[in-house]
Amino acid sequence: MKSSFRAPSNIALVKYWGKYGVQLPSNPSVSFTLDACATETTLELTEAAGISVVLDGVDTPSFVPKVAQFVERIADRHPWILRYGLRVNTHNTFPHSSGIASSASGMSALALCVVDLAAKLGHEVADPRQEASVLARLGSGSACRSVYGGLVVWGETPSVDRSSQDFGVPYADAVHEVFRTYRDTVALVDVGQKAVSSTAGHQLMEAHPFREQRFAQAHGHLAALKPILAAGDLDAFMELVELEALTLHGLMMSSQPSYILMRPNTLHIIEAIRAYRRESGVPISFTLDAGANVHILYPAAFEQTARSFVEDQVKPWCKDGRTIADRVGQGPVSLQQ
Ligand code: DP6
Repeated sequence: MKSSFRAPSNIALVKYWGKYGVQLPSNPSVSFTLDACATETTLELTEAAGISVVLDGVDTPSFVPKVAQFVERIADRHPWILRYGLRVNTHNTFPHSSGIASSASGMSALALCVVDLAAKLGHEVADPRQEASVLARLGSGSACRSVYGGLVVWGETPSVDRSSQDFGVPYADAVHEVFRTYRDTVALVDVGQKAVSSTAGHQLMEAHPFREQRFAQAHGHLAALKPILAAGDLDAFMELVELEALTLHGLMMSSQPSYILMRPNTLHIIEAIRAYRRESGVPISFTLDAGANVHILYPAAFEQTARSFVEDQVKPWCKDGRTIADRVGQGPVSLQQ
C-alpha cells in the first residue's frame, strides 16, 4: 500500500524562532506557501520491518534517522505505523545543492502520505489536513504551514481566530488580491550546508536575553499585518517583513554564542534592493530564512521590472548567478493515479 504527495516549501513573513516541549512554537508565525520549490514523496508500507529512503533515485541512508525520529514522534497518534516497514521515495523539485531547506516541504509531504494511508487502512481521521499539519509539525515546525496554500498561520495568537500551537491554519481574514499572486525570487548566495542548524538556533532562544521582547513583538506583528493584508498596503508590508527578516538574523547575532548566517553577498543584495526601491519606487522587498539566501518579494504586476533588476543587480552576487523563480502557491496535491 502506498501514497504519494507533492508538498511545497514556504517562506515565513513573521518568523517562528524558538520552541518548547514537543515542537511547540514560542511565538506565532505566518508564511506564504510557495509553488515551484516542492518535494514529491511516495511512502510505501512494507511487510519487512525497517526504513529505507531513496532521494532522487539514490539510496540515502543518511535520511533514515530523520524519518525514524518522525515515526517515533507520531507513533502515539498513529500506532498502526509501527506494524510496518517504510519505504520512502522522495525528490525535491529544487536543486539539492541550492541550500534551500527541504524539511518544510519534505516533512509536509511525508505527513500527508501518513494521513492518507491511515484513512486507506480504515483509521478514522476527523480532519485529514489538520492531522497532516500536526504530524508535519512533529517532523519540522515550519512544515506544518506547508499543508495549505496561500497564507498560513501557526501558533496561538489573539488576533487570529482558530490559531493553534498544534497545527497551521489557513489565514481566514481579508487578504487583498495583490498578496494572492505575490512573487518570490530566491537569490542563491550560499549553497552549502548551514554552519548552525535551525534546531540549534531555536535552542539558543531558550536563554536569549531578548526572548520575551521578541515573542511579544511577533504577536504584535501578526496583529499589525491584519489591516496591511486587507488593504494591500505594500509599504507597510515591506517594512514589517524586512524588519522580521533582520530581527531573525539579529537574534542569531545576539545569541550566546553569537553566529552569523548572512554572507557578504547577502548584504550586497539587501542594499541593492533597498537602493532600487528608493530610487524607482518599485515595491520590491526581501526576506531571509535561516541561511544566506535572499527571498526577493514583489507583486506579480512588477514581474518584468523585477526580472531585469534581478538580472542586472542581484545575479552578480549569487553563487554561479543562480536564482529560483517562485510564487505564492495553492498548497499540496495528491499524486495518486
Ligand atoms: C527561520 O521549522 O526548520 O525558517 O522545527 O527545528 O525543524 P525545526 O525548525 P524549522 O525552523 C524554521 C525557522 C525559520 C522561520 C520560519 O519558517 O518560520
